[in-house]
Amino acid sequence: MKNIVVGVLTLFIVGLMVFTAMDDAVFHGGHQAKVIEDFGDGSNQKVAAIAQVEEKSDREKEDEELKALRDKAGNAGAFKVSNEYKSKCSSCHGVNGSGFQNGKAMMGPPIFGQSEEEIYTSLVDFKAGRKENMVMKGLLMHLEDEDLKRFAKEIGEFPARAKEEQN
Ligand code: HEC
Repeated sequence: MKNIVVGVLTLFIVGLMVFTAMDDAVFHGGHQAKVIEDFGDGSNQKVAAIAQVEEKSDREKEDEELKALRDKAGNAGAFKVSNEYKSKCSSCHGVNGSGFQNGKAMMGPPIFGQSEEEIYTSLVDFKAGRKENMVMKGLLMHLEDEDLKRFAKEIGEFPARAKEEQN
């Protein structure tokens, strides 16, 4: 009786070994062959295609947001600014204060649309160190209060200047 049980068990185990070996494609190149098989049936490409679509819509959304921001910042076009603004501020805030250049965000935030008072307060606070920013502070350190007022006045006029250019 014991012998029969052992015999049946052995047969079963050997059978299982053969079965799993064949199933795992060991005879056809093992794991590597399976990977190649997976590549072959096109299912991976489908996944990649879906990922691409999602990526694209994300980028489109971003583009739309950027466009909205630029429109808000009066991207309607360039308008006249002083050489002073151009040389000292436009490299970070954009020639029109939009904070964008060629669709890319620049180092400084948009300042277009802020009032003269808002700009002036920011500048004074930067200079005094109440508003902490090394870049702006370094820039304003050598400017007089009059200069800050002049910049504030000019930037405060940006929306009106943009509108004038449009008409
Ligand atoms: C080297 C780059 C750079 C230049 C040049 C520069 N800025 Fe800035 N500016 C910044 C950065 C960065 C900030 C953001 C600081 C923060 O909020 O921490 C900023 C912030 C500001 C703000 C506050 C905006 C807000 O909404 O908080 C004003 C106003 C401003 N700048 C005006 C100017 C003026 C006027 C000039 C020219 C005299 C100028 N900036 C030149 C980089 C620059």
